Amino acid sequence: MENKTVIGFIGAGNMAYALIKGLLSDGFEAKNINVSDANLELLEKRSSELGVTTYSDNVSLLTNSDIVVFAVKPQVLSVVCHELKNKASSDQLFVSIVAGIKSKDINRWLGGDFALVRTMPNTPALFQSGVTGLFANELVNDTQKESVNLLLSAVGECFWVNEENLLDAITAISGSGPAYFFLMMQSMKQAAMALGLDEETADALSIKTSLGASIMATNSGKDSRTLRAEVTSPNGTTQSAIETFQDQNFEGIVAAATRAAYDRARELSQELGNID
Ligand SMILES: NC(=O)c1ccc[n+]([C@@H]2O[C@H](COP(=O)([O-])OP(=O)(O)OC[C@H]3O[C@@H](n4cnc5c(N)ncnc54)[C@H](OP(=O)(O)O)[C@@H]3O)[C@@H](O)[C@H]2O)c1
Repeated sequence: MENKTVIGFIGAGNMAYALIKGLLSDGFEAKNINVSDANLELLEKRSSELGVTTYSDNVSLLTNSDIVVFAVKPQVLSVVCHELKNKASSDQLFVSIVAGIKSKDINRWLGGDFALVRTMPNTPALFQSGVTGLFANELVNDTQKESVNLLLSAVGECFWVNEENLLDAITAISGSGPAYFFLMMQSMKQAAMALGLDEETADALSIKTSLGASIMATNSGKDSRTLRAEVTSPNGTTQSAIETFQDQNFEGIVAAATRAAYDRARELSQELGNID
């Protein structure tokens, strides 16, 4: 992305903060970052900590930015878009990190056909360890795609899909996924305490084992099925545990849970998009 491209964030909350911090650490200049928010105290805080330019109204931010990032809660997005209605220029690029709201609904609220990238980051983005699913509508050109890729790469890895509906699948896997792993950590911690370990040790063992397994899966060059087979000696302790998981239909539970998240993402998308 050219360093003179001006990026404006509508909403100065947690995600905007993470993205801006990431951009700054990648060498993007604070003078080319704008932020607007309904909360003036928060704007003041962002300005003094990050050196970005702040606006108390979203229309001024729009007028002074090349790329506008929607970083507000889903319930607020239609209100924000209505404020901007018929005020954007045709060469502006919009990026939404707002969960669930489809590109056609955003463009309907903005009152035109604008180049728009919808993204689905996840919460580890707050620690620059996220994964983000992205979808570009047909008006987004390659240079714009590259700019958005750089923007979201500031908080983790990017995965593009060429059908917008696939963002619902991404929501069910990586969007909600951190909570699935937290549930596993919580269950392992409880199990460790039931086996006599103290709480602090139980907590550390479950978290660090999860981290170590992730690092191994990322760096070993082997798929998770192979890694699991390699750590499962015949008649050993791991085999006893894995067989118990499978007797209780572990894979079936994971498939049902992710399907439920996928169905709910589709329902929410429908409900939120129905607003005029
Ligand atoms: N947090 C995550 O890890 C994560 C992951 C994936 C996707 N997302 C998506 O990212 C979006 C932002 O999440 P977040 O966690 O950053 O939310 P957040 O911390 O609540 O930030 C949103 C900010 O927008 C402000 N706001 C409200 N109305 C506004 C308006 N009309 N104009 C300008 N600003 C306004 C809010 O102010 P008030 O607080 O005063 O209302 C708040 O400061 C959400 O749509 C969420 O779905 C977040």
